[in-house]
Amino acid sequence: MDVQVKIVKTAIQKESVQSIRRDVFIRELNIPENIEIDANEDAATYVLAYVDKKPVGTARWRKTDSGFKLERFAVLDTFRCNGIGEEMTQFILNNLDKSQLIYLNAQSDAIGFYKKLGFVSVGIEFEEAGIQHQKMTYKKGE
Ligand SMILES: CC(C)(COP(=O)(O)OP(=O)(O)OC[C@H]1O[C@@H](n2cnc3c(N)ncnc32)[C@H](O)[C@@H]1OP(=O)(O)O)[C@@H](O)C(=O)NCCC(=O)NCCS
Repeated sequence: MDVQVKIVKTAIQKESVQSIRRDVFIRELNIPENIEIDANEDAATYVLAYVDKKPVGTARWRKTDSGFKLERFAVLDTFRCNGIGEEMTQFILNNLDKSQLIYLNAQSDAIGFYKKLGFVSVGIEFEEAGIQHQKMTYKKGE
């Protein structure tokens, strides 16, 4: 599958991001909209993954006091397991300063996905928005 990942720059692209997040997090995973759309919307940098010019995946990152936090990874269900999530993660990692801590809070079901991409679990699982999560950090060169 030919996947293209781009940094979101236009209002139309941002609408595609919101649409994918609505489908995946709000409709599929039943996350309340007021939690899914949070106070960091404007502080984050977003990516979109395209297949045949159709936006099918999104993710974001933002600078925090601890480093860079990766968030909101979502691929439309019919496009999963085609390497789109991996392409987005590699694209984001290529854009970040690896001397900083790079981390995320993985939903339990997605721990295996991030593990394959070089993230390791830190500490114990915790609950957020009714879903179990695990903090994971990126290990350089491993
Ligand atoms: C998690 C998600 C973004 C992965 O996207 P994807 O495009 O399906 O992932 P990829 O096809 O790039 O997978 C890369 C590798 O991770 C593996 N993988 C994917 N999802 C996995 C999972 N949930 N558990 C374990 N391994 C997984 C794939 O098998 C693949 O391995 P391979 O290289 O050996 O074939 C997607 O499943 C999704 O949108 N899930 C619903 C929302 C969600 O849970 N987001 C994460 C919130 S923290």
